[in-house]
Amino acid sequence: MTTSSDNVVTAVAHTNIALIKYWGKRDANLIIPYTGSLSLTLDQFYTETSVNFDQNLDRDEVSIDDQSAANNSWQRVHDFLEIVREKSGTHLNAKVVSHNHVPTAAGLASSASAFAALAAAASKAAGMNLNNQELSILARRGSGSACRSIFGGFVEWQRGTDDADSYAVPINTPHLNDIRVVALTIEKHQKPISSRRGMALSVTTSPYYPTWVKVVESDLQSIKSAINQDDFTRFGTISELNAMRMHALTLSSDPDFLYFNGRTLDAMNEVKRLRHSGVECYYTIDAGPNVKVICQTKNVKEITTTFSKLFGPDKVTVAQPGPGIKYL
Ligand code: DP6
Repeated sequence: MTTSSDNVVTAVAHTNIALIKYWGKRDANLIIPYTGSLSLTLDQFYTETSVNFDQNLDRDEVSIDDQSAANNSWQRVHDFLEIVREKSGTHLNAKVVSHNHVPTAAGLASSASAFAALAAAASKAAGMNLNNQELSILARRGSGSACRSIFGGFVEWQRGTDDADSYAVPINTPHLNDIRVVALTIEKHQKPISSRRGMALSVTTSPYYPTWVKVVESDLQSIKSAINQDDFTRFGTISELNAMRMHALTLSSDPDFLYFNGRTLDAMNEVKRLRHSGVECYYTIDAGPNVKVICQTKNVKEITTTFSKLFGPDKVTVAQPGPGIKYL
């Protein structure tokens, strides 16, 4: 059990972009998903978090990007620390200092890097010595997509059926390693409907949800075989299709909702135009208006030039496969 106040642990986790999406929980408390999902960890967007359990604190202290955390963020971090305290046996409050190198809650999956970094830093600061599988399970309790950010490169979250068998595993492959993701940060503001609320609404009200569960199974098989065969065209095609299938769940929910804005549609049309002109690229979109363009190294220049003209160069970031969890 930790008693001293000099045990600061700092961890860095990179965000990931889902190519086969996680959209819906079978168990909302434990965060067990209805389906598996598959992602790529990116090198460009990350969270650095320090945790220190300290006997001199009378409540958890949380600072995010140099500001004291707002009530709802504080509560989410506190709830997560409660899980760490329960598992580790410490009763101390913690000081958490977190810096996001990612536009928060704008569809660049900041909760993934945030809870992966928090899981790693908090568990170690509490004296636990978890392996990466155990870390993935712990990170999942904070945010589902965070379980994938424990690992670098391509990662599959195996849905499992309970707390112990729902975790991510890395897909170690020499294939598709020249893949690049051109992130278009169209909007930096908070999304109006969180992915948590949005997916719950889709599960309970979209008449297509049972079909989604079936279709993800086959999309997962297809994308894994595309990776195995180093087949970028199939890989991109399935990614784009799966993203649109997810967004069809938002449109078919009651009440319906939509994460796209006008510029999202402009970006989608531009990707299609580029593709038809021979510049192979595909889009994927999460719970926000930002668009990620999936391509290979050879086309990065043309794609960034095109989108810099459309949205401004400051809105365009090129990412490549990134690393798993690290301690500083
Ligand atoms: C669209 O992991 O943020 O990015 O588990 O409720 O915290 P919670 O949801 P979260 O959802 C991510 C949704 C997504 C798709 C994905 O990353 O797989």
